[in-house]
Amino acid sequence: MKRILSGVQPTGNLHLGNYLGAIKNWVAMQKGAECYFCIVDLHAITVPQDPAALRQATLEVAAAYIACGVDPKQSAIFVQSHVGAHAELGWVFSCFAPLGWLNRMTQFKEKSGKHKDQAVLGLYAYPVLMAADILLYKPTHVPVGEDQKQHLELARDIAGAFNRHYDKEIFPLPEPYIQGAAARVMSLRDGTKKMSKSDESEYSRINLTDDADTIKLKIQKAKTDPHPLPDSVKGLEGRAEAENLLSLYAALMDQDLEKIIPQFAGQQFSAFKSSLTDLMIAKVEPITSEMRKLMGDEAHLRSILRIGADKARERADKTLAQVYEMVGFLPAGGRR
Ligand code: TYM
Repeated sequence: MKRILSGVQPTGNLHLGNYLGAIKNWVAMQKGAECYFCIVDLHAITVPQDPAALRQATLEVAAAYIACGVDPKQSAIFVQSHVGAHAELGWVFSCFAPLGWLNRMTQFKEKSGKHKDQAVLGLYAYPVLMAADILLYKPTHVPVGEDQKQHLELARDIAGAFNRHYDKEIFPLPEPYIQGAAARVMSLRDGTKKMSKSDESEYSRINLTDDADTIKLKIQKAKTDPHPLPDSVKGLEGRAEAENLLSLYAALMDQDLEKIIPQFAGQQFSAFKSSLTDLMIAKVEPITSEMRKLMGDEAHLRSILRIGADKARERADKTLAQVYEMVGFLPAGGRR
């Protein structure tokens, strides 16, 4: 049986990259699988957060998961800080991850900027906590966008190091699952930069909370180039913006890019943009309205998160107990 784990940070609005690169794949995979979908608030505080906004964003991400089609009856939806084993295993792993491995992480280099000495330890140790998030559940698949590939490789390296140290196959190596035309959705303002919550320009991304007029305007303003659309994937070489917009269309249609290209071959961007806008609104609007509905009943959302955390804890605590035993911690006796 497939076992799946993934997560999203509750920082700011979720955008189309989060949906098409990750959550949409979770929904497609959840049937018949044991699934854990986490809202990773411990990760969020690696950069400064307003406490009230963080609480609100945590609920909003839970609502987004459900609105996108994650079924709380089938999948555990939970908040990372509700399951203490994440932080605990994170610490143990930090005693197995050589600094040299962490020094290679490109995300730390990007996020810490020029003043590395001012960057906090949590930002540096982030991928170790992420390895704990994953390995606690011993998942067979971890569906994420392309930008998380390096972190997943580190999780596999840490699993391997731990297994080798104790000469026991405690952690199966998790497979990254990076799929679809939108594994890397790019900014609408610059096709060479990924779509991101932290981009200053609102016009760089489509948020899952954007209404139809906002989507229309953002697509209208999206950067293009002066040429008509090509008739093959090869024709997209050096045309990052065209590739991004066509890939968005393909992902929203649930089709391969190769299949979509002939439909628009030779067209001007203006005609294609109008088709893309209609499709995007048709796909995003139901999510937005469902999110709004869910956010109107906080008690219901919280009860889903409580049940999810109970389910996650059951699996996570088992793994942690196994690790503590291997490491040589004295059992506390009774309830840990
Ligand atoms: P986060 O919160 O930045 O993003 C959540 C998910 O969305 C994907 N994603 C994208 N996919 C395609 N195009 C984009 N422009 C784009 N932007 C974001 C991400 O790849 C991710 O799948 N470190 C993770 C959160 C995390 C996690 C985990 C994920 C913590 N622990 C354990 C999986 C398993 C992060 O910051 O994702």
